[in-house]
Amino acid sequence: MPWICETIVTTVDRAGALHIAPLGLIPDGEEWIIAPFRPSATLDNLREVPFAAANHTDDVRIFAGCLTGRRHWPTAACDRIPVQRLAGALSHAELAVVRVSEDEQRPRFHCRVVHFAAHAPFRGFNRAQAAVIEAAILASRLDMLPRDKIDREIAYLRIAIDKTAGPAEQQAWQWLMEKVSGHRASES
Ligand SMILES: Cc1cc2nc3c(=O)[nH]c(=O)nc-3n(C[C@H](O)[C@H](O)[C@H](O)COP(=O)(O)O)c2cc1C
Repeated sequence: MPWICETIVTTVDRAGALHIAPLGLIPDGEEWIIAPFRPSATLDNLREVPFAAANHTDDVRIFAGCLTGRRHWPTAACDRIPVQRLAGALSHAELAVVRVSEDEQRPRFHCRVVHFAAHAPFRGFNRAQAAVIEAAILASRLDMLPRDKIDREIAYLRIAIDKTAGPAEQQAWQWLMEKVSGHRASES
């Protein structure tokens, strides 16, 4: 598996409506690959308007929020592309799609970086932030993963939350746990 950069990707449709979604970006030399599984609003948008901002943020509420229907986060204009970026990003890259590798399940959008900007310093690793990102991935696959695997992984991730979370990470964790409980309730 390649090294993957977990980012918040912003795209727009042809009417200019912004869409915010967490996606893992895959480096390919100087380029980045965005690989959305079908169906995906990000995928549709990239076909309509072939630009995206890759937002690097340590505010894990945005990862958890996007997975739980909270997609409205403050944004700001990009410098070189007609897409908004996250206002609170520590840094962001402005991407232009240069070609698409078609695939039934998961097309790959190869992107060139047309601009990169840093806005705030990286403040160091935090285990609870990593735990929220892992839990967000679990929450995005509730229909696909076995129940006992989800339970075991949440129990492990909760250790880092209990020991190292601040208010933002606690909020993000709570949103994700509500989503897991809601999914369970809908199953029974
Ligand atoms: C950290 C993280 C990384 C993700 N990476 C991807 C990805 O590379 N491709 C994908 O299709 N979905 C990925 N997902 C799930 C999407 O965020 C989620 O399904 C999203 O709604 C994409 O669909 P959309 O474009 O319609 O919003 C990821 C989720 C998380 C939390």
